[in-house]
Amino acid sequence: MIRACRPADRSAVRSVVADAFGTEGETVAALVDDLSSEHGRVELVAEESGAVVGHVLLSRSWVDARQELVEVLVLSPLSVAPGRQGRGVGTELVRAALAEAGRLAAPAVFLEGSPKYYGARGFEPAMLRGFTRPSTRIPEPAFQVAVLESHQAWMTGGLVYCEPFWRHDCVGLRDPDLARIEQMFDS
Ligand SMILES: CC(C)(COP(=O)(O)OP(=O)(O)OC[C@H]1O[C@@H](n2cnc3c(N)ncnc32)[C@H](O)[C@@H]1OP(=O)(O)O)[C@@H](O)C(=O)NCCC(=O)NCCS
Repeated sequence: MIRACRPADRSAVRSVVADAFGTEGETVAALVDDLSSEHGRVELVAEESGAVVGHVLLSRSWVDARQELVEVLVLSPLSVAPGRQGRGVGTELVRAALAEAGRLAAPAVFLEGSPKYYGARGFEPAMLRGFTRPSTRIPEPAFQVAVLESHQAWMTGGLVYCEPFWRHDCVGLRDPDLARIEQMFDS
């Protein structure tokens, strides 16, 4: 079952996120706390037998278009408890998050992630749509967008992340991971 995250879910969400992201877990869990309280727009959990097994957050950021700043959403992070992965929970969370974004009339949802995973779930390379990355440390193929119904042609430009992504140093990759992933995409 996918449902809205409630205040009582906070510690369960923290555990799921921390477990899903391994060595980066504590950093990503702290990112979730700050994004959720300062810029959160949609926060959903997947529940199985009364336990939270997955979580997704959409927070606000902006596209710096020539005409005006446009509020958009960023899907980050997406987490499924390690023992529950590979059974469609992540797919359902992405589907539900995009549906909520559409209901909120958001023009676009951005993310950083695997093009294989998200490309099959409604996302496409954002650079091909004329958007530019908030950091060149985000490999181009990983910078993706789902353009929604209320998007208009002029709403293009650079994506500007809200501050918590920088505060927690959760933008793109750093070497040696960056170099490794770039080599993977190049080969
Ligand atoms: C990535 C993640 C959210 C996917 O959730 P899930 O419930 O396991 O995924 P689903 O069951 O819906 O989909 C399974 C597919 O995801 C793929 N997959 C699983 N983890 C993946 C990863 N880290 N990167 C790319 N693809 C991944 C599987 O190979 C499978 O591919 P297929 O559809 O071609 O067969 C989950 O594995 C997770 O929490 N990973 C750790 C945290 C993370 O990396 N989050 C995403 C970045 S924000």
